[in-house]
Amino acid sequence: MRLKVTILGAGQVGASTAQRLMEHDYADVVMVDIIPGMPQGKALDIQEAAPIVGYSGRIVGTNGYEETAGSDVVVITSGIPRKPGMSRDDLVLTNQKIVTQVTEQIVARSPNAILIVLTNPVDAMTQVVYRVSGFPKRRVVGQAGILDTARFRTFVALEAGVSPRDVQAYVLGGHGDQMVPLARYCTIGGVPITEILPRERIDAIVERTRKGGEEIVKLLQTGSAFYAPSAALVEMIDAIALDQKRVLPCVAYLEGEYGLTGLFVGVPVRLGASGIEQVVEIPLTDDERAALHRSADTVRALVQVMQLSG
Ligand code: APR
Repeated sequence: MRLKVTILGAGQVGASTAQRLMEHDYADVVMVDIIPGMPQGKALDIQEAAPIVGYSGRIVGTNGYEETAGSDVVVITSGIPRKPGMSRDDLVLTNQKIVTQVTEQIVARSPNAILIVLTNPVDAMTQVVYRVSGFPKRRVVGQAGILDTARFRTFVALEAGVSPRDVQAYVLGGHGDQMVPLARYCTIGGVPITEILPRERIDAIVERTRKGGEEIVKLLQTGSAFYAPSAALVEMIDAIALDQKRVLPCVAYLEGEYGLTGLFVGVPVRLGASGIEQVVEIPLTDDERAALHRSADTVRALVQVMQLSG
């Protein structure tokens, strides 16, 4: 049985996600966007690559929601991306409206779906989707940590001259400047980087990771990152579709874990067929815990701007 995955927003992130997912060849995909013809055109283009690349699934694009009915997984990328000089938080009220509308449409037709949120500011938008959907917390998850961690791993790999596959790391907290890259848990082939790289190089990598999204926005001038974000989304969809029980940093609803309650924030979770199966609590030093709480405070402030309650 093929999974049915709907992708809301057929822009840069949405279409790249659709392409990657089709190439994994276990899902049929529906792409929804408000721009007439655009999701239909992109879907047809991806479908026409199938004989060359060699996948068997179906992909359709639409401006409506009928085709989305009965989806197993729904990815929300619809919204506006930031421009140079904007923070992710500047998008909050515009994207809150868009995310609310699309969530209402989706839950009416796919009441059992797992919802993955990418639209920024993602921690706050995941909270919106949770409130609007009324779904259990295990079926609402946001993507941020896999991307931030991938940036951290990339910079460490480049610095050390090793394969990024052999670099493991965790970036926790909100998807903003206050995110918490945990250098102590970053390893190359199992050896902590704190024993391999000099302190000042690690500090520079942490700083570059925090500003990773901004670095791309400045270079692109129009729009924000989408190749790595779409790869991160597909890693999450794989974990759910194939019940991989991956331990991945995701935006999850906390009820006491890490001393935080009533808030979505980035933490390691076990991700499988039923969604978030467990929030994984890793031991933190007092400083790391304080940094996570400071980061969570910035998310809480944004949630207050939207006048959503915990
Ligand atoms: N319903 C469906 N699609 C919508 C809606 C809506 N109500 N409103 C906007 N969209 C679509 C836009 O038409 C656009 O095609 O969402 C798409 C967003 O695509 P891009 O502008 O290319 O933005 P993208 O780079 O994909 O980023 C999307 O992810 O990374 C975050 O900050 C980023 O919040 C932004 C989101």
